[in-house]
This record gives sequence, structure tokens and C-alpha cells, in this order.
Amino acid sequence: MNATSFAGIPKRVKVCEVGPRDGLQNEAVTVGTSDKIRYIDMLSAAGLAMIEATSFVSPKAIPQLADADAVFSRIAKRPGVTYLALVPNHKGFERARACGVSAIAVFTAASQTFTKRNINMTIEESIATFADVVRTARSESIWVRGYISTSFGCPFEGDVPVENVVSVADRLAEMGVDELSIGDTIGVGTPDQVVALAGALQERLPVERLAMHFHDTRGTALANVTAALQMGITTFDASSGGLGGCPYAPGASGNLSTEDLLYFLHHMKIETGVDLDKVREATAFISRALGHAPNSRVYAALAAADQNGA
Ligand code: HMG
Ligand code: MG
Repeated sequence: MNATSFAGIPKRVKVCEVGPRDGLQNEAVTVGTSDKIRYIDMLSAAGLAMIEATSFVSPKAIPQLADADAVFSRIAKRPGVTYLALVPNHKGFERARACGVSAIAVFTAASQTFTKRNINMTIEESIATFADVVRTARSESIWVRGYISTSFGCPFEGDVPVENVVSVADRLAEMGVDELSIGDTIGVGTPDQVVALAGALQERLPVERLAMHFHDTRGTALANVTAALQMGITTFDASSGGLGGCPYAPGASGNLSTEDLLYFLHHMKIETGVDLDKVREATAFISRALGHAPNSRVYAALAAADQNGA
């Protein structure tokens, strides 16, 4: 590799903060509604352009987010910030709409077994459900993200062929989703897969409409971000303090931490508009509520440097 390898990479990146949703959904300790609201408000103050605030899913599936309606209604909505909420079906969409949600995320996967366990639908059934939801959402000018989980590997089926991801992406693109987020649900992906997937998907929809959602289970997330940047991707999901995981994906650990991502991007001279120190404050707050330390190398390094007066 030579010094010019990074010359063409994006100069600005959008970070989608998923801590309040992907982060909290996997936590054993129930966080109070007012603490969730404070956490999201602190993230808003950090300058994040997009925050996934909650999920309007079945409270039996994700008890932690049973207070989605109260959380979404009461967070302070900063102008210019997109507050996203997950919607699994018509009922979830009605709940989201009643709370004035202006951006939703529908979610399916590239492997059947995970889709069935996660949302009790086949991939085809999920596409039929979401086609309806997305049509209504778009007619009401609601912005839509589509997630494709298990794009890099499935906890039940193992390897997932690129063609399977592309076929689901085609269906979501036909529906007219505004953005596709490609999920490495269990953190098994490597940069060669990122290049293959991003290359195949860019033949179908513009790179500006693609996001990458890496879990850092095996420590490959930032290597994957590097590959994605080299493929021109400009949207990355991350969770403050590296919280996260999917209760329906055995072995899934936290998302790539927002602190690790921001440190990496900022030192690469890539702008995000996000204040790393303010994200750290939000992480410190939610970690106290959860009763455990964050899972972020950069958070730990900066906390140690603060203690040493560096
Ligand atoms: P089901 O049991 O097939 O649903 O679950 P159902 O329609 O038969 O309804 C069963 C009960 O749930 C009924 O209540 C419904 O009213 C209720 P009952 O009559 O028994 O009292 N119900 C709801 N309640 C509130 N809100 C709703 C709702 N829907 C039904 N929206 C269902 C199907 C999809 C609902 C369920 O499986 C579910 O909610 N799954 C969500 C699982 C989830 O949230 N997983 C984590 C998010 S995905 C993820 O983390 C991956 C991602 O990060 C990307 C990546 O990393 O790859 C996005
Ligand atoms: Mg996830």
C-alpha cells in the first residue's frame, strides 16, 4: 500500500448513533424512561446527525424498549437531527406514527433462520409486510431506512452469499427505501467481504444511500470501515460506549463504538460534525445507569489519559 491509497476517500461522514436502540435492547438492566431520554438528549447535544432513538417492536420481544412511545414523544428534537425508530410491522408503524415519528427503519435479513427467529417471518413475508408499511410511510413523507441483517454471516446458517444480500437489497430498493444499512449482526465480517458487498450493491443504488452497520465482536469493525471508506461509503452506524447486540443473534456483541469510530475518522481528517467529548459524557451517563463499564478502547484510553492529567 502506498501513501496515495487514501487520497480518494470521503472527507465527510455521517454517523448514525444506535446506542439508545441497538445498545440498550441487549442490556439486562432495565433503564428508566427518564434516563433513556436524558441519554438521547446528551447524544443530540454531541452533534450527531442521526440518532436511532428506540424500537416500536413487541414488548415481549424486547422488554427494554417497551417504553418506546414515552421515550420518543419526550426527547428534545433538535433541528437538523434525524430521530429514527425501528418498526417491525403495521402495529409498530401505527405506534410510531402516533408519536410523530418522521423517520423509520424496517428490518429484515439475508438469511431465513435469523429472520424467522428475529421477527417471526420468512424473508418474503417481511418484504410483503414492509412493502405496505413503506408505501404508506412514503405517502406521508416519512424517511425510510431498510436494514439487512446477517449480510456478512448468520449465527444459524454460517456463510451468507453476496447474491442473497443483493436480492434482499433489490427488493428494499424497489420499495423506495431512502437508505440501506448493511448489517454485520454478529461481527464476523472482514474487509474483503466489505469490498465485495459494497461493489455489488453500488451497481444497484448510489453509494450515498448505503450505510454500514458493524458489530465489533471479533475486532474487525474499524478494518471494515477502512475498506468501506475506500469503496466510497459515507454513512456508518455506531453505538456510544460500544453497547449493543441483538438478543436473537447468539454471540452478537456490541456495535462498533462511536468513540472508536470518531477517533479513527477525525485522525484520518474526515469530518463528522460530532463532538467526541460530548459522546463520552453521554456514555459515562448511560454506563452509570447500566452499572457496567463501556466497551470502547478509545473511551478507556481517554479516561486513563484524563486521570493522568494528559
Ligand atoms: P409475533 O409474535 O409473530 O407477532 O412477533 P404477532 O403479530 O403474532 O403479535 C403477537 C403479540 O405481540 C400480540 O399481542 C401483538 O399485539 C403484539 P398479544 O395479543 O399477544 O397481547 N405486537 C406488538 N406489540 C407492540 N408493538 C408491535 C407489535 N407487534 C405485535 N409492533 C414481531 C412478531 C415482529 C412483532 C416480533 O417478533 C418482534 O417484535 N420482533 C422484534 C425483534 C427485535 O426487535 N430484534 C432486534 C432488532 S433487529 C437488530 O438488532 C439488527 C440490527 O441492529 C442490524 C444488525 O445488527 O444486523 C437492526
Ligand atoms: Mg445491530
